[in-house]
Amino acid sequence: QLKVAVLVSHTGSNSRALHEASLRDDAGFGICLVVSNNSGARALEYAREQGIPSRHMSVRTHGTPEELDAALLDELVTRGVDLVVTAGYMKKLGPRTLAAYENRIINIHPSLLPRHGGPGMYGMAVHEAVLATGDEVTGASVHHVTAEYDAGEVIARREVPVMAGDTAEGLAARVLAVEHQLLPEVVRRIAAGKG
Ligand code: GAR
Repeated sequence: QLKVAVLVSHTGSNSRALHEASLRDDAGFGICLVVSNNSGARALEYAREQGIPSRHMSVRTHGTPEELDAALLDELVTRGVDLVVTAGYMKKLGPRTLAAYENRIINIHPSLLPRHGGPGMYGMAVHEAVLATGDEVTGASVHHVTAEYDAGEVIARREVPVMAGDTAEGLAARVLAVEHQLLPEVVRRIAAGKG
């Protein structure tokens, strides 16, 4: 079974969708760790409720970005993590973790990358940009994580039509529903060796 660690900053609805998918008999993967930079993240509370090992790790708990990078990598290696999923994780990973887990870190992003990605493009800002640009279609992407925001190779994308009168909030909710399908699908595929 593929051992997956999820990194998350706030709500963690994707992390929850992934956990629920992992409980299916044929999933081929399990969530062995949830890490958040935010001690108050709903995602950490959910992990505790579900008995999933969880950690609050940030520069506050670990002092410097370098120490945090080393401690996170140590945690991943100690637990035998095979795949790291960042899902609503609003921090960059350090160079040690990126190097040790090259091609084994994936992220979900709420647009059709390469459109509306990069620094500052997260959460509601993405959907506002889609509406401001007049795009007729948006969606969700899962991609490999590299040192640059949203720049790694795209693994899978799913489209969501933009509708007349859409608000950023409405669009965000429809894209999120698609994210909850897409992310578990990609992880299942990776677990089956087809990623
Ligand atoms: C999701 O829409 C995710 O794609 C987005 O944050 C939300 C987290 O929701 N991530 C980014 O914008 C990263 N650039 P969640 O905490 O409920 O999973």
